[in-house]
This record gives sequence, structure tokens and C-alpha cells, in this order.
Amino acid sequence: MNYDSFYQKSIENPEAFWAEQSDKIAWFKKPTQILSTDKNGFYRWFAGGELNTCYLSVDYHIEQGRGNQTALIYDSAATNSIIKYTYNEIKEEVSKIAGALRDLGIEKGDTVVIYMPMVPEAAFSMLACARLGAVHSVVFGGFAPHELAIRIDDAKPNVIISASCGIEFDKIIPYKPLLDEAIHLAEFKPKNCLVLQRPMCHANLVGERDIDFATMVAQSKPADCVPVDATDPLYVLYTSGTTGKPKGIVRDNGGHAVAMNFSMKYIYDLNPKDVFWAASDVGWVVGHSYIVYAPLIYGCTTVFFEGKPIKTPDAGTFWRVIDEHKVKVFFTAPTAFRAIKKEDSEAKLKEKYDTSSLKTIFVAGERCDPPTLEWLQQIAQVPIIDHWWQTESGWGIVANMMGVEQFPVKAGSATKPVCGFDVQILGENGQKLGPNEEGYVCIKLPLPPSCLPTLWNDDDRFRSSYLNKFEGYYLTGDGGYIDEEGYVFIMGRVDDVINVAGHRLSTGEMEEIVGSHKAVAECAVVGIADELRGQRPLGLVVLKDGIEISEEVLEEQLIKLIRDQIGAVAFFRNAILVKRLPKTRSGKILRKTIRQLVDGEQFTIPSTIDDVSILSEIELCMRNRKIGVFQ
Ligand code: COA
Ligand code: AMP
Repeated sequence: MNYDSFYQKSIENPEAFWAEQSDKIAWFKKPTQILSTDKNGFYRWFAGGELNTCYLSVDYHIEQGRGNQTALIYDSAATNSIIKYTYNEIKEEVSKIAGALRDLGIEKGDTVVIYMPMVPEAAFSMLACARLGAVHSVVFGGFAPHELAIRIDDAKPNVIISASCGIEFDKIIPYKPLLDEAIHLAEFKPKNCLVLQRPMCHANLVGERDIDFATMVAQSKPADCVPVDATDPLYVLYTSGTTGKPKGIVRDNGGHAVAMNFSMKYIYDLNPKDVFWAASDVGWVVGHSYIVYAPLIYGCTTVFFEGKPIKTPDAGTFWRVIDEHKVKVFFTAPTAFRAIKKEDSEAKLKEKYDTSSLKTIFVAGERCDPPTLEWLQQIAQVPIIDHWWQTESGWGIVANMMGVEQFPVKAGSATKPVCGFDVQILGENGQKLGPNEEGYVCIKLPLPPSCLPTLWNDDDRFRSSYLNKFEGYYLTGDGGYIDEEGYVFIMGRVDDVINVAGHRLSTGEMEEIVGSHKAVAECAVVGIADELRGQRPLGLVVLKDGIEISEEVLEEQLIKLIRDQIGAVAFFRNAILVKRLPKTRSGKILRKTIRQLVDGEQFTIPSTIDDVSILSEIELCMRNRKIGVFQ
């Protein structure tokens, strides 16, 4: 297959292209319009179509005679157990959970928050919501109660599904106290919480609100699939924006199903029945798309892994899972491989396993740094394919489309735009930039199926965050360039978002939290380089006049504050006291310059800086504290 002609067809005639792809899924009623605009003028895919995403993921395969095929392998390195579920068994589990939700009053269009660790019931609960046409909103288990509360207030779920605990290496993390605290903090109060009791930790169920998950599900009658419109929401997934209020990314049913199905063949080069493993968490978009929906819609076997790349029990775990389940395509974040490389740099542990089933490794979630890419190429001896995408898109925007035409890999590039994405680099005034010129990475509208049609209950923010900067384009928030051969290089965010161990976090939100400390007059939080996590946040703090507090004490309090409000995953470990922050004469904090200074990158001193000497002061602080390039 030829990439150029396939891609061009998708850009020149998107309706014909996606009409053909939409024929590959089992609609209850075919769409009447392939591409249209809604009352807000936002693009919508497949209006008039009716389907059910749970039906496509489960029942359809059973009807096609594949009921006994293994659909999901729960491999828990954290608890040392493996459970395999066939499509028939998943249907049984999911329709009973859907029945339980229905008994609690959940109907089509209602929201359900899922706050669970990596247990298969998390995936089954997502599918159960989809079965009823209810909208799930999964919240990553590593988020603190404050973050969960913000999401509860925005999603307004009548039911929350949770579990008694998660497992982080050898630590048991009780979820119920976090859930209770979140409900206490939230203004909106859910009617019921279904709590899955895990054997390693018992949650206290109190009052009428808390219900034992297993008992309720056992007593329920299985529920059938409820037809929904293609444009109805399947889920809302909150992601970090530039402020303390996360953005509720809406995913519709029709566009999502078509794009998921398309991506499995053309990006990942898989066939139904192949074993596919995305080592991520259901709390992130990778987990939604590639642990749950895409592999099941396409009829693959998905590996659902609870554990870490290292220490569960060792840095050979990934190779063990690939061998044990004969994984064909594996997908994870580069951070995971940096962790393995640190513990087992010569990949000695890999020698214990037969990984010959593995054809390709995909990475995403953060920039894949060339040293990690090269190390992985050497030890894995299969193509390592970096691909770039976002919660907003739900699938790859730039990739080496392995099912279309494989291009040579260039380190630092995710290769070429995926079908449907007209990726362009624009300058500050919206002008199109030429080859190798760095600017804003944008996508010319319309976005292809599966991309967010809007933000949950916030059309204005959708416009202001993504559409208003350059008319006719979607602003991705990333900076980068395209070389003369059409390879796209993503150079990092141009806004206040950072990526810590593949987790997308807002430095703007961290600044709001640090700034709320009573001793702090003003502050800046920037993402600095971290060998393992890619980036980590660093706080620079100016004290209020007359306040006396040591740097050590303040740092400790701020670390606790961020941990309590966002969660340990933020990995906020350093707050530095400075007399002033470097600013332009108009008062804009020079965050990029601070980051470049700390990371030891070349930078030109901005001509607009109000006082250059502040930079020397910051450098001295970093040297004293041995932070960044000065360690
Ligand atoms: N629930 C609760 N806490 C969590 C958590 C979760 N799901 N995930 C991480 N944390 C906690 C950790 O326990 C740690 O807490 P601590 O400060 O009390 O020790 C803290 O958050 C920082 O975690 P992390 O940055 O992940 O460091 P780590 O040393 O625990 O693990 C890696 C390092 C590289 C092994 C881990 O980050 C990893 O597996 N990364 C891959 C990420 C990934 O797959 N992302 C998916 C995006 S596609
Ligand atoms: P998330 O929405 O959590 O998936 O994070 C999306 C952001 O992660 C993107 O906007 C990028 O900044 C970054 N990102 C994801 N994948 C890649 C990649 N392959 N290369 C570079 N950055 C990436």
C-alpha cells in the first residue's frame, strides 16, 4: 500500500475516505451524514448513525462465532496472578455490571465516575456504561481527593465505581478514604458508590451510599445494549489544561469506534485475534483507547497489566509478559523503558524469555529521546515506532503507519501525519512555515473521527483553548517542525503543560497551589529535565515581605501541598527561594528562560527582560542546591 495516495485521499476527500472506513463496523443504523456541523458550528462525524460501543466490543464478536476466543488477559505482576476472560465471559461480567448500574437508576446519557486501580472490573465497568449508553469518566487512581472532587463536580455522576485499594510496588494504597475525602470536598454528592473489595484491603462501607460491588452485581439481571447516536458521548476524560480546572475531553461513540477500528489495522498492523498489549493505565487516554476499546472492537486479545516495568518483581517483567501471552504488538511510554534501562542496562533479564512473537514496539505519551530509542532498538531487535497523540485526539496524529507503508525511523520524529490529520506548522501570525521551521503544531479542520467534538459542558473553553488562535485550525499546544521529507518532529509543549513519567500535568495548576501558601508572594513552576521521568516540576518562590521561613521548611510544606492536592505522581520535589522572578518589562514571567537555564540549554537573554541579574541569582541558587545541570 502506498502511504502518499492513501493519506492524500483522506485529506482531499475526508467524507469518502471515512464513509468507506465506517462500513467496517456493525452499525444498528447507518449514518445519514458522514461529516456535518452542529448548532455550534463544530464538526460532527456520522450523524444519524446508531450503534453501541459495548456491542461492537463484545456481543458482535460472539455473534461472529468468536465467543470462546480470549478477549482480555488480566496479568497482575502486583498480585502474582493471571486471569483470562473470553468474549463470552466478558459479556457475562459486563451485562451484569450494567444491570447493577441500571438498578441504581443509571440510564442513557447519565454520567458514572470510575476511580479504580488496574483491575479488570475497571474495564468491565467502562463497557457496562457504554452498554447502557451512560457516559463514563475514569479518574486516574494516582490523583489525590482534591483532583477527584473537581472531576465529580464537573461530571456530576449519580454513581461512582471504585475499589478498596490499588497496589504501587509493595505499597497497598487504600482508595476508600480518598474517595470519601473527595466526596466530602465536592459540592455535588453522588447517590451511590459501588466498591469492589479486594482481598488485600477491606474498605469500610458506611451509610446508604456505599454498596458492595460483588454483591450488587451478583444480584442484578443482565442488561442489553442500548442503541445510541453516533454523536452521543461515550466518555469524558479529564486532562490537564493550563489552569487548575482540567478539561473534560468528550469522546463520541461513532467517530471513536470507526477510528479505533481503523488504527488497529493501519497504524498497528494487527489482525483480529492477535495479542496486543498497551502497558498504561485505564486512567489515561492510552488505557481507554488501547487497553480497552480498540483491541476489543477489532477482535484482538488485550493484555490488561497491573504492575510496573521494574520491581514487580524485576526489570524483566515486560519481557515475561510478552513471552507468556505471545504479544505481537506492545505499546508503552518511553519512561518505562528508561526505568528498565537503568536497572538492566544490558537487558540480561530479557535472555530468560522467548520474545519472538513480538513484531513491533510502539511508544507515546512523551517525547522518545534518541538514547532510549537507540538502546531499545538494539536490545529489542524489532521496529521501535514513536507516535504522537493527545487525549484530545484519542489516537495517533503522527505515526509510522505500519499497516500502510513502513518508513525508515528518524530519531526524534514520530514520522508522518496519520490519515485524516492535516498537520501544519504555523508561525505566531498564523502564517504557514516552511520545512525545518519551528512553530505551533496545528491541524487544519475538520479533525478526523474520534477527536474531541467539544469540551464537556464548555463550548466556550473549547473555542478559546483550541480554535480561536488560528482560524480554521486546531491548536495542539505542542511546538515542532516538519522536515523536507515530511517527517514531523514534536519538540514539546508551548503552554503550561508538562509531562512527568508520561503523566500530563499542569504547571499552571501547580502555581495556583504553591501561590495559595500564605508565605508566598509569587511563584513560577517550570518543567525541568528528569532522567527517568522526562520532566519534573521545579518551583521558584518569592516570599511575601516580612515573612520569615527557611527554604527547607517552605519546601517541605509545598511538597506536601502539591502531594495532597494533585497527588504523588506530580513528583514535585524542589522549591527554591528567590528574591524576584525574571520577567519581561510588561510583567510576563520568563518561564522558558528559567527552564533553559536549569537544563543547561543554550539560550539568548530576552531583550525585553527587566533585570538580567536575576538570572545569575537563579543560577547561583541552582548551583547551591545542585539542581538540573548543576547537580
Ligand atoms: N496510584 C497511586 N500512586 C501512584 C500511582 C498510582 N496509580 N502511580 C504513581 N504513584 C505514586 C508513586 O507510588 C510515587 O509515590 P511516592 O512518591 O510515595 O514514592 C509517586 O507517585 C511518583 O511516581 P512515579 O513518578 O511513577 O515514580 P516511581 O518511582 O513510582 O515509578 C516508573 C517510576 C518509571 C516505574 C513509573 O513512572 C512508570 O511505570 N512509568 C510509566 C508510566 C506510564 O505508563 N504512563 C502511561 C502514559 S501512556
Ligand atoms: P496526553 O493528552 O496525556 O496523551 O498528553 C499529550 C501530550 O503528550 C502531547 O501534547 C505531547 O506534548 C506529549 N506527547 C505525547 N506523545 C508524544 C510523542 N510521541 N512525542 C512527543 N510528545 C508526545
